[in-house]
Order: sequence, then C-alpha cells, then structure tokens
Amino acid sequence: MKHLLFIVGSLREASFNRQLAEEASRLVGDRATVEFLAYADLPFMNQDIEFPAPAPVERVRSSIMQADGLWIFSPEYNYSYPGALKNLIDWLSRPVVAGDRSTAAIAGKKVALSSAAGSSAGAGSRGMLSKLMVAVNANLMQEPQVGVKLDRSAFETDVLALSTEDRNALAAQADAFLAYLER
Ligand SMILES: Cc1cc2nc3c(=O)[nH]c(=O)nc-3n(C[C@H](O)[C@H](O)[C@H](O)COP(=O)(O)O)c2cc1C
Repeated sequence: MKHLLFIVGSLREASFNRQLAEEASRLVGDRATVEFLAYADLPFMNQDIEFPAPAPVERVRSSIMQADGLWIFSPEYNYSYPGALKNLIDWLSRPVVAGDRSTAAIAGKKVALSSAAGSSAGAGSRGMLSKLMVAVNANLMQEPQVGVKLDRSAFETDVLALSTEDRNALAAQADAFLAYLER
C-alpha cells in the first residue's frame, strides 16, 4: 500500500489548511496510509549546523524518504507560502551526502498541492510552490490542484465548511494523486 505524507504549511492549531488536509485524509480512506509531518521544531536553515544534521532534520528527512508521495496544504502569506514551509523545503533540498544533490530527501518525490486562503484561494502560494518544487527537483503533479476560498463564516467560526464543489474537487485530486503514484 502507498504511503502519503501530508505537510500542512500553517503551524496554527485551528488551521484551515490542516482541516482541508484532514478532509483529504478521509477521502483517501483505506487506499493509502496517511501521516502528518510534524516540523515545528526544525531549526532555521544554517549551513554552520548542516553536518551532522540536527535531530529534527534527521527525523523529517526520514519521514520524507519513507513516503511515496507528499501532499502539501499551504496557506498564502503575502502572495507566497509561509516561511516555516520554505525553511522545511530548504532543509529537504540539501544533500544528505555532502556535495551530492541527488541524495536530497525531496529529490524526485511526487508532490501534490492544495491551499485554503483568502480571495485568491491560494493561487499565489501554489504558483510560488510550483516553482519551488521545480527548483528542488521534486516531481510535481501540475494538475489538478485545489484552492479553497475561505469565506467570512470560516473566519468567524474557525471551522472550514467545504462546499460540495470544493469537496468534489478535493476527492478528484485524491484520486488523481493516487493514480500519479502508480506511474
Ligand atoms: C502573514 C500573513 C499574510 C497573509 N497573506 C495573505 C495573502 O497574501 N493572501 C490570502 O489569501 N490570505 C493571506 N493571509 C490570510 C490567510 O489566508 C489566513 O489567515 C488563513 O486562515 C491562513 O491559513 P491557516 O488557517 O491554514 O493558518 C495572510 C495571513 C498572514 C498571517
């Protein structure tokens, strides 16, 4: 059975993107195993501490390497993705064996992108993430991507209530990503 690693770009406890990821996990159901990556304890990338890698870096790299696919659910911060997510990807882009880029944990990994955000539905964040995935030699599923536009009631209640259309789009993305993993 395939193993999916879900990466939520927000560190916020009541994160809408975490809620979106939880719904995606329900939609994947028993077709794959799903793990949520914990990475709030990562230090900032600093080449002075790269070798040997700090324990939290070793831990996230090991989770990434065991995954068949990464599904990123990210908010949009100022038309891009959050800095904490960039820091994680920066660590994953660095070689495990000094000097050999092919040993980077994220190299060749299959990736899907979704977002929940304001009026742009995270298009800016996903656009920047798409470029980042190319830069780090990940294997991005370009389409479909799901962008959920948060409405006023979400911000009032902290509850993400997906429309039928959004849930159907997320279900279609789950189907497409599971198929992409078989390629
Ligand atoms: C620093 C910061 C910048 C933001 N910039 C944007 C933005 O450019 N576009 C947008 O749609 N929402 C923006 N937002 C609002 C987020 O979309 C909203 O807070 C969302 O709930 C964050 O996702 P989360 O619930 O998963 O934490 C920003 C929020 C923060 C904290």
